[in-house]
Amino acid sequence: MSKPRLLVARAVFPETLARLEQHFEVEHNQADAAWSKQDLIARLRGKAGAFTTGTERIDAEVLAACPELKVCANMAVGYNNFDVPAMTAKGVLATNTPDVLTETTADFGFALLMATARRIAESEHYLRAGKWTKWSYDMFAGAEVHGSTLGILGMGRIGQGIARRGAHGFGMNVIYHNRSWLSPDLEAACRARYVSKDELLMTADHVVLVLPYSAESHHTIGAAELAKMKPTATLVNIARGGIVDDAALAQALRDKRIAAAGLDVFEGEPKVHPDLLTVPNVVLTPHIASATVPTRRAMADLAADNLIGFLVNGKPLTPLNPEVLT
Ligand code: DGY
Repeated sequence: MSKPRLLVARAVFPETLARLEQHFEVEHNQADAAWSKQDLIARLRGKAGAFTTGTERIDAEVLAACPELKVCANMAVGYNNFDVPAMTAKGVLATNTPDVLTETTADFGFALLMATARRIAESEHYLRAGKWTKWSYDMFAGAEVHGSTLGILGMGRIGQGIARRGAHGFGMNVIYHNRSWLSPDLEAACRARYVSKDELLMTADHVVLVLPYSAESHHTIGAAELAKMKPTATLVNIARGGIVDDAALAQALRDKRIAAAGLDVFEGEPKVHPDLLTVPNVVLTPHIASATVPTRRAMADLAADNLIGFLVNGKPLTPLNPEVLT
């Protein structure tokens, strides 16, 4: 029997590719060439499955052009690149990679918070530029982390991981806002208290964004929200670009409306708003919150397991639209 045909849309670990090739007739992109939407469609035609990352958009246009497609496995927990209702309507299964990246991403969220509050990137650039000629009492004095108030917007698995680190590791007072309240058990484990979005913005010393991107969460933080934050506050975004209005944030940083920001994700990435590149009080990283070798391997393995599980054994591990299975 011939093997199902699969498109691997981006470069992946060679071991992942070798494993997929045992089960599928694979077209890959190990050169990691930048494909336009039309390139993606051309390669996806006639394929039963796709191994994607957050950069490939699977929408109604792609689905209409690729009627043989049965499954798209995203190597990411976020899946705003998928139009899931359109996929469900066409009977195409969508999968993502939850859990395997939770702790690594929470570590990074905390690292970015620390780097931002303690001005690590800014002071390192100063040192490298040869500007450090003497010590002084207020040199790169930043915000306190331990014992301060940590506000988390979006309290899924990663938000909870950040809450636990803040509460148990740094004695922080943790408040959160989310679509729904955590159960009393989870609130106790995270030592976190539910507050309104306004209370969070007005009282947190550090605001961390971990909510999924959608039309509703677009520009959750804009000029009006930034105006509510303390002038000493920091803002960290490890969620998705578009949740923050980057132009408004750059202006708020320039005006010292808030003290500093740490950003791992950007509107229109990999482009970065030019104003963010010129303000000193922002730490910028290229969407690497889940980037440790073991975690990226686990994400790739889970995406491959979903494809093999579904196309070979009829049982995906982490489906987003399990209704297409029935
Ligand atoms: C995710 O898993 O959603 C990360 O942002 C990597 O894309």
